[in-house]
Amino acid sequence: MNTVYSSIKGLGFYVPDNIVTNDDLTQYMDTSDAWIQERTGIKQRRYFTYGKDTNASMGAAASRMALDRAGLEPSAVDLIVYATITPDYYFPGSAFLMQRELGLEGIGVIDIRNQCSGFVYALSIADQFIKTGMYKTVLVVGSEIQSSFLNKSNEGRGVAVIFGDGAGAAVLQATTDPEHRILSTHLHADGRYAEDLYVRDPGSSREGQWISEATLADGQYNVTMNGNTVFKHAVVRFMEVINESLTANGYQPEDLSLLVPHQANIRISGYVQQQMNLPDEKVFNNIQQYGNTTAASIPIALTEAFEQGRIKPGDLVCLAAFGSGFTWASALIKW
Ligand code: ACO
Repeated sequence: MNTVYSSIKGLGFYVPDNIVTNDDLTQYMDTSDAWIQERTGIKQRRYFTYGKDTNASMGAAASRMALDRAGLEPSAVDLIVYATITPDYYFPGSAFLMQRELGLEGIGVIDIRNQCSGFVYALSIADQFIKTGMYKTVLVVGSEIQSSFLNKSNEGRGVAVIFGDGAGAAVLQATTDPEHRILSTHLHADGRYAEDLYVRDPGSSREGQWISEATLADGQYNVTMNGNTVFKHAVVRFMEVINESLTANGYQPEDLSLLVPHQANIRISGYVQQQMNLPDEKVFNNIQQYGNTTAASIPIALTEAFEQGRIKPGDLVCLAAFGSGFTWASALIKW
């Protein structure tokens, strides 16, 4: 019997129409285009339009594009794996809402909350389900509406300028072709650093009600980030997990055709690129246009890289992520 693998058959993304430039942010906080570009590489990001976009509707739009490009009807999908940290409801997750929007009632859905590594975790789960033969076609989605989370005052400016909204999707299908497939995925986490990048509230382990005057007054529903610690861990873990995927498959960094890193911050990607001695054409960045879209950033970047002809059949493509948790993960793909 032939071994079953999974391969990416279609990619898609959706970003809201509303473009918010760095200059636009100066309405809410003391900041400047120069400060933001120098520290993060970001020029603009997208913010959702209330009443038009939801986390699930953006995921559905990205999924429709991915399915269309795969030449598949939504009815071909056996399972949805959906990564987000900004769901439309506290529960159930947005996977359920997107399933409903795509008319796929009855199939299984899995919600993943693994922050910036969420898409790679979701891809890994989809890959395992396909390799065991349980499912043939799995839709993997990353979608985020972060603009409604952000504290856009001076107090929150160190975080608010970084994040944006958007969604990306990939359709995975079973294949027996060993030359064009996901080679391996690698997942890691270290909960010792949970509070170095987190949103505390609303949380269950609170005195009395989980949302109260006291929790609101505390302001711990804002993102708290220890930027220095995140930076230091990110650069090390990115390199480790990229190298882990290469070593697992007998490759060297110079064999890579394209690295698609989570779009965290251009300084993080730039440092990794420099340390790994990768030329510009082997690293894809689009944080300039969309900011950091957390679980959506890799599928958006992968789709744009594909659209721009940066990925060709036979290419060795590495997806790598680092994020809150801390989590870090990679996927090595022979396209
Ligand atoms: N505009 C202007 N000034 C600002 C802004 C802003 N948006 N934000 C902070 N400042 C000011 C601060 O108030 C501070 O002023 P002070 O020196 O008078 O006190 C000064 O700039 C430096 O502030 P820091 O917080 O030390 O800013 P830093 O230089 O560290 O840059 C940044 C912040 C970009 C977030 C940095 O910590 C960093 O690169 N962190 C890496 C982590 C990261 O990028 N995380 C985002 C992604 S998380 C993920 O996806 C894994």
